[in-house]
Amino acid sequence: MEGLAQRVAEAADLVTVALDELLPRADGPEARLTEAMRYAALGPGKRLRTYFALETGRMFELDDRSVLRCACALECIQAYSLVHDDLPCMDDDDVRRGRATVHKAYDEATAVLAGDALQTAAFEILAHPDTHSDGSIRAELVIRLAQAAGAKGMAGGQMIDILGVREDLGGVARMQRLKTGALIAAAFELPLVMARAKEAERHALLAFAHDLGLAYQIVDDLLDAEGDAEKLGKAVRKDAEKGKVNFVTLLGVDAARERLGVLAEQTRAHLDPFGKKAEFLRASVDFVLERRN
Ligand code: IPE
Ligand code: IPE
Ligand code: MG
Ligand code: MG
Ligand code: MG
Repeated sequence: MEGLAQRVAEAADLVTVALDELLPRADGPEARLTEAMRYAALGPGKRLRTYFALETGRMFELDDRSVLRCACALECIQAYSLVHDDLPCMDDDDVRRGRATVHKAYDEATAVLAGDALQTAAFEILAHPDTHSDGSIRAELVIRLAQAAGAKGMAGGQMIDILGVREDLGGVARMQRLKTGALIAAAFELPLVMARAKEAERHALLAFAHDLGLAYQIVDDLLDAEGDAEKLGKAVRKDAEKGKVNFVTLLGVDAARERLGVLAEQTRAHLDPFGKKAEFLRASVDFVLERRN
């Protein structure tokens, strides 16, 4: 769609500038930690969770500035999850977003701490009165993000991924839903909370987010199998080598791609009730599917 790439790039710029302002700086010896946090969070991520949050906010005519604070919180969790995901005890990766991973640029202890402090920064940002004037809404935002990031969300999914249990397809879908889908769904959920959206709208948009999140991880797994490390800014061909269980290692590239096609149709259909209001979100499905980086 015309203008979509531009819109995604604008969202990325907005969140990077906002994060630069919100993330701590320090003068003492703890400066090593704040520098590592900034290195992780301000690096060139695609910022697609930010894009989803801003577009959802716009559908409900929310103030961009409030949604942007939610996006900052989402990107802090995303950055933290990647810093820890890359550690030698997890995926053991040296390159992320086209640069040395945090434990390579600094050291492992600093990477663990930077992840920890990025996680708490996310909740500090959300809970601040600048995010929303109503304290009960802020509390709800905090709960939703905590659920998405925790044992029944991203961290739980990472546990299943690391265990590498040979699951059936249903089990793999559940793992993907937790490790990737939950945080993507939160990008929709947080603006929905602020908009006090009607149950039917919430239901439709979260069904969209759910399928989109699954598609997102299948694309990531296809890119690991077939993509280009230079373009991706991270190593490829790691999943098979590490014995990861996902749709691609389980079904093969062709069958995984076929599933993705069916999933894409199903994903778009969830937006039907929103009509033209959802045109940018609808177009983002192809953007996610066709990404090469
Ligand atoms: C990478 O996420 C990890 C997955 C959940 C697939 P992204 O591909 O969104 O990574 P960045 O934030 O753009 O670097
Ligand atoms: C990680 O999935 C998802 C996270 C929750 C961080 P991957 O391990 O496949 O992500 P990449 O390929 O390293 O970005
Ligand atoms: Mg991983
Ligand atoms: Mg990884
Ligand atoms: Mg991957």
